[in-house]
This record gives sequence, structure tokens and C-alpha cells, in this order.
Amino acid sequence: MKGIIIYKSKYGATKKYAGWLSEATGYDAVSVKEIDVKTLDQYDVIIMGGGVYASGIACMGFLKKVYSHIKDKKIIVYTCGASPYDEKFFGQLVARNMTGELNGIPVFYCRGGFDFKNMTFGDRTLCKMLRKALSKKDPKNYEVWEAALMEVGEDESGDWTDRANLAPILEYLNTSEHNNS
Ligand SMILES: Cc1cc2nc3c(=O)[nH]c(=O)nc-3n(C[C@H](O)[C@H](O)[C@H](O)COP(=O)(O)O)c2cc1C
Repeated sequence: MKGIIIYKSKYGATKKYAGWLSEATGYDAVSVKEIDVKTLDQYDVIIMGGGVYASGIACMGFLKKVYSHIKDKKIIVYTCGASPYDEKFFGQLVARNMTGELNGIPVFYCRGGFDFKNMTFGDRTLCKMLRKALSKKDPKNYEVWEAALMEVGEDESGDWTDRANLAPILEYLNTSEHNNS
């Protein structure tokens, strides 16, 4: 099986996981910006990774665009958010993003980071506004990602990336490869 990992990463977490996945599988890891759809013909397995932004998965636009071209291949999606893994949060994320023909594609969660210091001015302003609004809310009522946002101080970084988070993806790849042979 020949595979490729295509990532869309703004602050590096999804890219970091793509590198680790590449080491573990031997698949090429390529930024979505560098992909020419026709080159996907040569691959059997396509792993798409994207960060979570306001409950959207960053690589979805690309996946929707190329889906008809790659639909007969083994497709996997992984996504990186600041939230810790939480069944309810993850279920909502999948339901919101994997709509229509994308419904049923396996999705995996790998926790990312939250890097206030290196954010664009726009993202930092947005996050600061959200933090201000959240500070008036009872922490018991925070959504998981809101709690993660509050956990990291302003002008600080949180990095929860961990190679061990890839274990379910690698297990899935091993099992499905075995089943196909
Ligand atoms: C503007 C903005 C919105 C975000 N929205 C969410 C969110 O809805 N849920 C979440 O878990 N993380 C959210 N995050 C955190 C990112 O998903 C996290 O930093 C992730 O590691 C980014 O991956 P990347 O660096 O590969 O782009 C947000 C971050 C920013 C800057």
C-alpha cells in the first residue's frame, strides 16, 4: 500500500503529527498547498490532517474538492484541537464536519496546542475577546475547548502534542491493511 499524508496546519501541530506519521508509516507528508490532485492517483491510502478552527476542521475544503477523485481509496482524517479528547466534543466535531458523502470516513483526534505568542494578530484578538467573555462565565459551564483556552495564560503557549496520540491511527492502518490482504 502506498500512502500520503496531506496536512493543513496554521501553527504547526497538525504538521508535527504528519511528520511523526510519516516516520511511522513511511508515507510522504505534504502540505495541502503543495498538492496537485493528479498526483493522488498513485496512492492507495490518503490521510488528511487539519487543525480545529471554530469547530471546523481545516482540511475539509480540500477534501470536499478532491473527494470525487479519490473516493475509491482508503481515506482517513485526523484533526488537532486545543481541547483534550472528549467524547461529546469529538462527536459534535465529526457530525459537523463529516457531512454528506464524507460521512463514514474514519476520523481520529490528536490533541494539538495553543500558542498565543505566535498567533496572527487577528487570531490573538479573537482569542482575547473570547477569554474576556469566558471570564464572566462559570468555569463549570465551559465547553472543553473553552476550558483549554482559559488554561493557557495570555502570551503563553500550551503544547499537548504527543506521538502516543497516533496509536489509534496506526492500529487502524495495520488492521485495515491486514483485512484487505
Ligand atoms: C481562532 C482559533 C480558533 C480555534 N478554535 C478551536 C476550536 O473550536 N476547538 C479546539 O479544540 N481548538 C480550537 N483552536 C485551537 C487549535 O485547534 C489548535 O491550536 C491546534 O493545535 C491548531 O492546529 P495547527 O497548528 O495544526 O493549525 C482554535 C485556535 C484559534 C487560533
